[in-house]
Amino acid sequence: MAPSSQRKVNAAESRIQHLAELAPALSDNLFRWYAHQGRHLPWRARWPELTPAYHVFLSELMLQQTVVATVLPYFQRFCERWPDIHALARAPLDDVLSEWAGLGYYARARNLHKAAQLISTDYNGIFPDDYETLQTLPGIGPYTAGAIAAIAFDKPAIVIDGNIERVLMRLMGLKAQVAEVKPILRVAYTQLIPATNRSDFPQALMDIGASICLPRNPRCAHCPLKAQCRADEDGLAADIPVKPVKIEKPVRAGAVYILTAQNGDVMMYHRPQRGLLGGMLSFPSAGWDKSALTIPKIAGLDDIVWQKSPRIIRHVFTHFTAEMSIYSATAHPLFMPPEPYGWHRPIADDWPRLMAKCFLDITL
Ligand code: ADE
Repeated sequence: MAPSSQRKVNAAESRIQHLAELAPALSDNLFRWYAHQGRHLPWRARWPELTPAYHVFLSELMLQQTVVATVLPYFQRFCERWPDIHALARAPLDDVLSEWAGLGYYARARNLHKAAQLISTDYNGIFPDDYETLQTLPGIGPYTAGAIAAIAFDKPAIVIDGNIERVLMRLMGLKAQVAEVKPILRVAYTQLIPATNRSDFPQALMDIGASICLPRNPRCAHCPLKAQCRADEDGLAADIPVKPVKIEKPVRAGAVYILTAQNGDVMMYHRPQRGLLGGMLSFPSAGWDKSALTIPKIAGLDDIVWQKSPRIIRHVFTHFTAEMSIYSATAHPLFMPPEPYGWHRPIADDWPRLMAKCFLDITL
């Protein structure tokens, strides 16, 4: 190992070691604060009571890409309509999807339903409580498995979300980008897990991150963990974590082809499971997904005249920006879409954002 890398590893180890020594004081201060200042959310019990696993599962899937304030009414409605895992498992998927409408990322709702069916049948409605088994269920990755194991079952599982990453990095005074220190944070978290009350622990840290240890203006003067915080001691809290340098995303030109039936239905298909927007409904398209930027060959549409929209729709993906041209046409009354295409009601709630934006453009 290069000497500079070795020095960084040694420094990280000593920060972890130091934090581990502070763990008992840190937990005491954290729990005292949480008892008075922690958020009361409908999916939270307070240790030694534990939230039912069904509620943790439901809330965690909803919270995967959505903020707490948005999730609250959805969580309440789901619990009223499907009070337990069996009820959710028995519900038609379409009902679950329409109750989910507005939360976005509909793969989560499909996974929620599929996982509920598996738990209801294969596990007799009893949630598995261990980290490994939880991850075999649809929609439950390492983070969610850790959250369910810790919050619903009080297990010493690792739960590190964006807020907790920031809190841990500041506690250790790690002036780095988050991506550079993820393994260190997992070790540090493990060292901090208290002997009891493992269910409140991550939720209390989340609340510190959401209300005190804020990204830009940390409120260190009000922080119950001030005495254990290396970043505060070094005057570095606001500089941690270091923001990644923004790289310009490449732009890909694309095109979508929106064919409308006489009754207003639109021709779409489910994209292959693997790859961009895997399994999601899409109009025929080209270019943006690295396919050739030519009109897709669709039997029966050789002579159709596509109208080009004067507007370009931009959509930002994680690794690139798509700039889409939109072509539209009305189908001949006798035209039947060939496989894998079919007619779909134009209900954009269940579509990827890119497709919904393109469709909106032609309805303007
Ligand atoms: N985000 C993910 N899990 C959460 C929880 N239990 N409370 C608040 N925000 C969360």
